[in-house]
Amino acid sequence: MLDMSSIEAARAEFPGTEELTYMNVSARGLTPQRSRNAVDAMMDKMQSGATDKAAMFDLIEQSRDGYAKLINATSDEISLVKNVSEGLNAIIAAYPWKSGDNVVLCQDLEHPNNVYPWRHLNRRLGVEVRSVSPRDGAIPTDEILSQINENTRMVTASSVTFAPGFRTDIGPIGAVCRERDILFLVDGVQSVGILNTDVETLNIDAMAVSTQKGLLGLYGMGFLYCRADWAERLTPVYLARFGVDLGGSGAHEASLGDDEYALMPAARRFDLGNYNYVGVAAADASISMMHELGRQRIVCRRHPMRHGPRRQRTKPTSRRAQCTSTGHVLLYIQIHEDWTIKISAHSNLIDSLDQALRMPRLNRFLIQKPEIQAGVEVVDDLAPGG
Ligand SMILES: Cc1ncc(COP(=O)(O)O)c(C=O)c1O
Repeated sequence: MLDMSSIEAARAEFPGTEELTYMNVSARGLTPQRSRNAVDAMMDKMQSGATDKAAMFDLIEQSRDGYAKLINATSDEISLVKNVSEGLNAIIAAYPWKSGDNVVLCQDLEHPNNVYPWRHLNRRLGVEVRSVSPRDGAIPTDEILSQINENTRMVTASSVTFAPGFRTDIGPIGAVCRERDILFLVDGVQSVGILNTDVETLNIDAMAVSTQKGLLGLYGMGFLYCRADWAERLTPVYLARFGVDLGGSGAHEASLGDDEYALMPAARRFDLGNYNYVGVAAADASISMMHELGRQRIVCRRHPMRHGPRRQRTKPTSRRAQCTSTGHVLLYIQIHEDWTIKISAHSNLIDSLDQALRMPRLNRFLIQKPEIQAGVEVVDDLAPGG
């Protein structure tokens, strides 16, 4: 158990933070030592022939609980998936779409993995994609709401956009969707593990998250939340043994029931076959650390970040460095193309997207205010004339 009173104790889990100022959580987090230990322990068993399948299933249930607690859901409302794309597609494919139905989103600010599924739905089934324009780099909640009509079946938004990384004010969207029985589907990967993303308070009906960013896990592992009463109105398009209810955990994993099969409760129906147990072990370890610290303690704070970026705004723009603050927690720095080579030399630490440099929100035990400031200074030094 961690000493809850000490952020420093938590940081000791991240040997990387002793050597560098790590600024790349928007792309991928640093994996803690305990995740590595958990993966090593599983690999030791795989290598020596001592694999314990029952213990692996226990781990699956433990990690389902861990995800659920993080977002204020129940375990049955969590399915284990590969990534955001798989989670979003599972929900989209399971919905009984009819021609003339529509979805509302802001295509310009969604990650392509939350745009192509909708374009494909339009191509396949003629579902209308109603897209609003960004305002000041953010998804405008009022515009999203104004595009909803009697044919809207889903609204989708990222809780924090992948670029430029502003928070979306999703509470009001969730409230309207709940009132009108529209499924509100959220891409939560840039907020879960960093910001408190409470599916109850925000009226989120379904949310897909992968573990390599704020959850400090591995690529190829994620979870899908789907609210129980919505999940039970959806019919998964893919189905395999773990999505079928053969009387709870008592039935063998390879047992086959008769033709009158029932789907598992809530989001469990989206589970398919064997899991990515190594990915589950890594994320379970990092999430259990977050639970030890307490959900509130991993959440970034607004005020310290406000000061950092705003001070930078006063830098002369002739240096082609401009930092803008969301008023929340993200630094987003416009870069000039001449910087590309210099920036790529730092690509393990910071993340460049087209003409911009993405820096992370503040995750208190991984990145602290002085490090954000140091990161800004590194970037500033890279600037022509810097
Ligand atoms: C908002 C957002 N959605 C989705 C993804 C990636 O999707 P996937 O987990 O399916 O690879 C990213 C990765 O940067 C992202 O920032």
